[in-house]
Amino acid sequence: MKKKAIKYSEVRKVLKLDTRRPNIDEGLSALTHFLQSKNNGTKVNYVKYATNYLEKNNLVKEPAFQYELPIEYDIPFPPPSNPKFKFIDLFAGIGGFRMAFQNLGGKCVFTSEWDKFSQKTYEANYGEVPFGDITKINEKLIPNHDLLLGGFPCQPFSIAGVSKKNSLGKAHGFKDETQGTLFFDIVRILENKRPKAFLLENVKNLISHDKRRTFKVIKGTLEELGYSIYTKVLDGKHFVPQHRERIFIVGFDKKIYKGKEGFKFPELPKPVHAIEDILDKKVENKYTLSDKLWSYLQDYAKKHKAKGNGFGFGLVDFKGVSRTISARYYKDGSEILIPQKGKNPRRLTPRECARLQGYPENFIIPVSDNQAYRQFGNSLKIAA
Ligand SMILES: C[S@@+](CC[C@H](N)C(=O)[O-])C[C@H]1O[C@@H](n2cnc3c(N)ncnc32)[C@H](O)[C@@H]1O
Repeated sequence: MKKKAIKYSEVRKVLKLDTRRPNIDEGLSALTHFLQSKNNGTKVNYVKYATNYLEKNNLVKEPAFQYELPIEYDIPFPPPSNPKFKFIDLFAGIGGFRMAFQNLGGKCVFTSEWDKFSQKTYEANYGEVPFGDITKINEKLIPNHDLLLGGFPCQPFSIAGVSKKNSLGKAHGFKDETQGTLFFDIVRILENKRPKAFLLENVKNLISHDKRRTFKVIKGTLEELGYSIYTKVLDGKHFVPQHRERIFIVGFDKKIYKGKEGFKFPELPKPVHAIEDILDKKVENKYTLSDKLWSYLQDYAKKHKAKGNGFGFGLVDFKGVSRTISARYYKDGSEILIPQKGKNPRRLTPRECARLQGYPENFIIPVSDNQAYRQFGNSLKIAA
């Protein structure tokens, strides 16, 4: 007899699933990962932690209940029922990569993001609580996967370790230079799990960072690991009405593909998107700049113009594309301002920011405006 499915929203209630509860441990991450991995061979990685969590928190009287029942994921972006491949989502933010690769038929089998507010948004949309600090995660916990995805924070590499090795006459590789950085965590996962391919994303400045040393070390390390590497800077304006240049680094395992993957970055569609396409007709007054802030931004721009700098606020052209939205948009919104007739300009609403990054209308925004601005500013843009 076919078992009746239980709704995920019910499971959430029974498990008192709240990412902002004090003293929450990663058991909740293990549990939500476990629930989504029952049928794809990865549950073995999570079952111990998930069971411990349930027992410790006295959450269900009958511990077998959630192991047996199929779950109907009544959330906007449920896992695919017949996945074509497995991926992991590192430095996940609000899941820009996850959204794109789930749409391609992939199943996410592990995710990590340490920010509690982003975890809340992530869980509301994908039904999984990301694990926290990646530096603390033993790679043995991570299930095998075909594809590793991650938009990692850019940090300089120390040369101290290398000069010490040199003075001891020891050979060193690029990898040694990456110790203690978040890129190193990507390296150790690639080394241990050997996914067939990976896709990393970063700001365009990664290339020039630290006199190009950072990029050289990154590329050198990935090649040392036995992956063939392709890189390209792509602009989001081909998909959304926003100028957003990001570098994409793609790698294929040479042992599997023998360098014959035949990969080419695709030709991007003509940019046809305009800011007016993503704006709401009616917007609350709270998004209009106060007289004080608007005068401050105008004075600031004047001063910098006098010095010959181009910095300042960015009033959008309705028929054009906006500047790049950043994680600091919540501060004053100055990089993207919407002119208004007879009023000071206004900032974008969080929903408009979601559209600017290509997120669909049914993406849930369960956090405050400020947190939402941070999250969308940090996010990957998705092809709408
Ligand atoms: C540039 S954002 C990536 C955003 C993501 N691609 C998206 O689409 O939303 C980098 C993320 O890494 C997270 N992060 C930084 N250090 C971390 C760590 N040690 N462990 C887990 N996540 C971390 C940050 O909180 C931030 O959300």
